[in-house]
Amino acid sequence: MGKVILLGHQKGGVGKSNTAVNLAVALANETYKGKTNSILLIDADPQSTLYRWSQRREENESVESFPCIRLDGNITKQIQREAEKYDYVIVDAAGRDSREMRSAMLASDVMLMPTKASTADLELLEHMAETVETARDYNENLKVATFISMAPTNSQAEKKIAKDLLKEYPEFKLMNTVISERKAHRDAFYEAVGVHEWKDSKAKAEVSCLLKEVSTLLVEEVDEVI
Ligand SMILES: Nc1ncnc2c1ncn2[C@@H]1O[C@H](COP(=O)(O)OP(=O)(O)OP(=O)(O)O)[C@@H](O)[C@H]1O
Ligand SMILES: [Mg+2]
Repeated sequence: MGKVILLGHQKGGVGKSNTAVNLAVALANETYKGKTNSILLIDADPQSTLYRWSQRREENESVESFPCIRLDGNITKQIQREAEKYDYVIVDAAGRDSREMRSAMLASDVMLMPTKASTADLELLEHMAETVETARDYNENLKVATFISMAPTNSQAEKKIAKDLLKEYPEFKLMNTVISERKAHRDAFYEAVGVHEWKDSKAKAEVSCLLKEVSTLLVEEVDEVI
């Protein structure tokens, strides 16, 4: 059975789709020598950001495209079926309390919640904590991890405040990785590649760190993380 990684957050625009593609590309490069066919991308957001990225990638002859499908509604069973065929399934769910996000949580090993270091984003964590609690009634193995995304590169104070606030939620594992706001992310996304295929070593190093932390989380026993 493959591992299912869900990008979910009630908040929109926090970097879910961006993280989905970068993790997929990092995984392909660091684990499969650039081969993509063990990793399925699932776009479960009507905005189709991930699906359109993947379609643009098919036209880019310098990189391998990823298998990518779109799902909507109650997607628990469909994700479970797909996980039988791939080593990894990466699901990008709509940025609100969507049916897709809630049902995907029931089929996931890890839900990653990118969080911006802003009050408006951090305030929604309370609601996400309740959503996670409900999901764990049905999927007791669900691990939930959060990390600071799109962080300003010139301010340590904001990151510190956000990290302190995130520590108040023991139900979410706070990752050490911080993904900074860098133009490379937008440029790479536009070209339908990941930062591992781009020319900003700092952006790439941060995504590598995130992948390492996610991989560790995937092999840890549930009791160790909650
Ligand atoms: N680390 C980053 N550095 C710079 N720009 C970023 C970064 N991460 C995401 N962005 C940009 O911020 C915007 C929102 O990111 P993204 O689409 O990944 O968020 P999302 O959570 O998937 O949003 P939605 O809820 O609308 O699906 C995009 O324009 C994206 O290119
Ligand atoms: Mg998105």
